[in-house]
Amino acid sequence: MDFSIKTFDAKTTIVAAKTGCIAVGVYENRKLSSEAQELDSNSAITAALKSGDLSGKPGSTLMLRNLTGVAAERVLLVGLGKNESISEKDFSSALHAVIRAFSMLGANDALIALPCEAVKGRDAAWLVQSAILAAHDGAYRSDGLKSQKDTASHGVKKIAIALPGHASDTGRATIASAQALANGMALTRDLGNLPANICTPTYLATTARKLAKDFKLGVEILDRKQLEALKMGSFLSVTNGSIEPPKFIVLKHMGGKAKDAPVVLVGKGITFDTGGISLKPGAAMDEMKYDMCGAASVLGTFRAIAEMKLKLNVIGVIPTCENMPSGSATRPGDIVTSMSGQTIEILNTDAEGRLVLCDALTYVERFKPAVVVDIATLTGACVVALGNHNSGLFTRDDDAHDQLANELLAAGKSSSDTAWRMPLGEAYNDQLKSNFADMANIGTPGGGSITAACFLERYTRKYTWAHLDIAGTAWKSGAAKGATGRPVPLLTTFLMNRAG
Ligand code: BES
Ligand code: MN
Ligand code: ZN
Repeated sequence: MDFSIKTFDAKTTIVAAKTGCIAVGVYENRKLSSEAQELDSNSAITAALKSGDLSGKPGSTLMLRNLTGVAAERVLLVGLGKNESISEKDFSSALHAVIRAFSMLGANDALIALPCEAVKGRDAAWLVQSAILAAHDGAYRSDGLKSQKDTASHGVKKIAIALPGHASDTGRATIASAQALANGMALTRDLGNLPANICTPTYLATTARKLAKDFKLGVEILDRKQLEALKMGSFLSVTNGSIEPPKFIVLKHMGGKAKDAPVVLVGKGITFDTGGISLKPGAAMDEMKYDMCGAASVLGTFRAIAEMKLKLNVIGVIPTCENMPSGSATRPGDIVTSMSGQTIEILNTDAEGRLVLCDALTYVERFKPAVVVDIATLTGACVVALGNHNSGLFTRDDDAHDQLANELLAAGKSSSDTAWRMPLGEAYNDQLKSNFADMANIGTPGGGSITAACFLERYTRKYTWAHLDIAGTAWKSGAAKGATGRPVPLLTTFLMNRAG
């Protein structure tokens, strides 16, 4: 898909734009956006609204053809809702409706002429990025493993976005980064959607190697022997029941100055989570193929920042294995020693994410990181707390951590990939007490996403750290089952902001 920015003025008018289709906004009260007004010299648009053919509700559409005085072959009217102050959600459904209509056209190119300034707090860059992400989302297919693919859809190949002159440079600069972000999200979605018999720890390692080769990144894959030498007893306890070999992936994008401390991303990479001996119930267990979405979001973010040639040092670390029951699996009550030396009583083998992450969080001390962010489909409790809209964000609450938390929250807001801050603290920490080891791997009932974060916090005291629980945001269930590509927009924007 090809994107460009167009600016219109008194000389270059939207009326004279030669394109297969122009999308313009209308409102529920039959009012026209200024762009729609320009195309309405013959009152055909006014007449269409009067007839009741279009409600104007957000995302409703009506296609008109051969309007007198309009050079474009078609005009697509799209509803923007009640009035000129549009909510982000309504604007987004209008944008997706436009993209859907474009995908079914027998035209090669089209123009989006929507009033982006109508969304409170949003600008041209946001419109361009939203349009590009929506177009990629509309074109995304998950039929790679079906014997009959969806027939190659026709639809427009080139989309131009109309922007006011003062915003055109920003708009143009946004195209490349939005395309890179979309490519990163597509990788994350593909990896998430692949089944666990294909997307194994070895497959993730191969994907990381390929990414490193294509984009000239540093890569290192540690195998079981090396993990044993590092004394990663906690990580290794999770892989005991599986015949798939565990992998520990380290990716390096060193786009900054050699002396600059790196940002480290750590992604949970459980390629399938049965629960282990603490076996999960059968319903929807297939969705535990998504338990490597933290890892996939690290790989997707690297895909995005590498394509952007981001001037920042970033290291990605992925502990990946499979959590299976078997005669060699870890038992409830087993006590293991983590790489940090702290001992853990494994009271529930289904709380495995924290067991693989804690050793990775100790390993990354060697990089003397500026900050560490871990990303994990860590707890069902986080879905109970925040639903499917916000990722859970956890940090300590001193000044340095408040700053990191605010950076991540802001990056989520500006990329429409939001997170919500959750607490940590001594009272929750007490819930992890064990009679036999330094800590248990589960807390007493209540606040499950918080006690999980408290567990991780005990391994992150040597640097500034944040934890993102993406259990509710990384994929969708039900009829629209599939990976979302979140939180790649949040992470990529966070890193772009850090690069300045
Ligand atoms: N991968 C799951 C978390 C999860 C569950 C994410 C459902 C999304 C949907 C994690 O490994 C897990 O099983 N966590 C347990 C922890 C519990 C045993 C303390 C959970 O959330 O039930
Ligand atoms: Mn689990
Ligand atoms: Zn898990």
